[in-house]
Amino acid sequence: MISESSSVLHSWCVQADWNAPSIVGGEGARFWDESGHVYLDMSSLAECMNLGHQHPRLIRAIQEQAQTLCFVNSSWGARSRAELAERLLEVSGFEGGRVFFTLGGADANENAVKFARQASGRSQGKVVARDRSYHGASYATMAWSGDSRNPSQNEEAFGVLRVPPPYAYRCPYGTVSDKECADRNVAHIGAIIDQAGADHVAAVLMEPNAGTNGIIAPDNFWPGLREATRQRGVYLIADEVMSGFGRCGEWFAWAAHGEAGRPDLMTLAKGLTGAHIPLGAVVLANHVAVKLEHSMLNTGLTYCGHPLACAAGVAAIAAYRDEKLIERSRALGTVMLRRLQAMQERHAVIGDVRSAKGLFAIVELVKNRDSREPLSPWPTVHPSMARFVSMARERGVSFAVRGNLIILAPPLVIGENELERALDTMNALMGELDWQ
Ligand SMILES: Cc1ncc(COP(=O)(O)O)c(C=O)c1O
Repeated sequence: MISESSSVLHSWCVQADWNAPSIVGGEGARFWDESGHVYLDMSSLAECMNLGHQHPRLIRAIQEQAQTLCFVNSSWGARSRAELAERLLEVSGFEGGRVFFTLGGADANENAVKFARQASGRSQGKVVARDRSYHGASYATMAWSGDSRNPSQNEEAFGVLRVPPPYAYRCPYGTVSDKECADRNVAHIGAIIDQAGADHVAAVLMEPNAGTNGIIAPDNFWPGLREATRQRGVYLIADEVMSGFGRCGEWFAWAAHGEAGRPDLMTLAKGLTGAHIPLGAVVLANHVAVKLEHSMLNTGLTYCGHPLACAAGVAAIAAYRDEKLIERSRALGTVMLRRLQAMQERHAVIGDVRSAKGLFAIVELVKNRDSREPLSPWPTVHPSMARFVSMARERGVSFAVRGNLIILAPPLVIGENELERALDTMNALMGELDWQ
């Protein structure tokens, strides 16, 4: 067996601590390692395998495209690129807009801000971004992210105007209702824009719902934010890298609010190809795209709109549609939420359960339900949380945790029995482990 523990520099960990088996295969919501141990995937790995592992339709599309044409750069047209752009504009209702392809989420966000700056003429415009958000690990996106993992805090260099999150369970304004918390949050964002002067703000960059920082926004947050930005003439960029493609029970999380939620730009990755091949995108509404029509676009990536990746994207959209996976996410999301709420009744360590109306939920663990003291100070991991992950793996279920949060985001193709089994394992471990 080849081990990568001493040769690969691994993300988001202390190298000396990295120790994981090699994964050699997968199918649907399951994957397995070299020893044949099978895991049910309760996080779609990095919340990206919305279509499950080794989706046959995507594999076929990549194989067929590879046999036809692997690459052309963006000085030339490519059929799969054109087709994917059309499909994306269609499913998002952004007809008349344009799509810029990237390799993943961080470069989609960087380019979205570039486009917002160019289209608004605010070339040095600030970016309003919230605490407890994640937009990527490049220098600029790390600065825009309100994430504990930003070591350099280089916010000034990248023009960040930081605002609090719509985190109703720990409302920064001390409000009691979800609605009031979101209303106060939106008013605060408006005030921050007014204070800076809207002419100096290029965009508000935000995840509409869900994310690894555990925020699931109250329903009134996104439409409120949309209205506040519209009134001030500031572009709203929806970072749908994680929340898109059915994760929140809609094609895109903003779509839960209909036209009242429509952003000016949105960024995509992860579910765009269900992670079968790297691809990201920025979708620009017509009124933004037309502003870029006659000026030089000073950005590009060698692999922009790579034909192999775009062919996978076209197949992914067909799979979401034909297999009714968006609807499935909504239906199974309800099943998952009910089970998690039942667990909350049984286990005092579960302080809050919140769901994004699809197969995405956050379980927040606390030391004390009344005081809401986190199980461990954010973003540290309590020893029992680490045990939870390792014991679940031994029992054949893979969970993602961060700090005191369990992030549940299984592939949308997961079977109901598989989901129930994974949640049985979680319930058993909640009871067995010592959470003191
Ligand atoms: C909301 C959000 N935006 C952006 C990113 C960055 O995407 P990538 O890792 O593809 O650069 C992520 C990744 O987790 C994300 O969750």
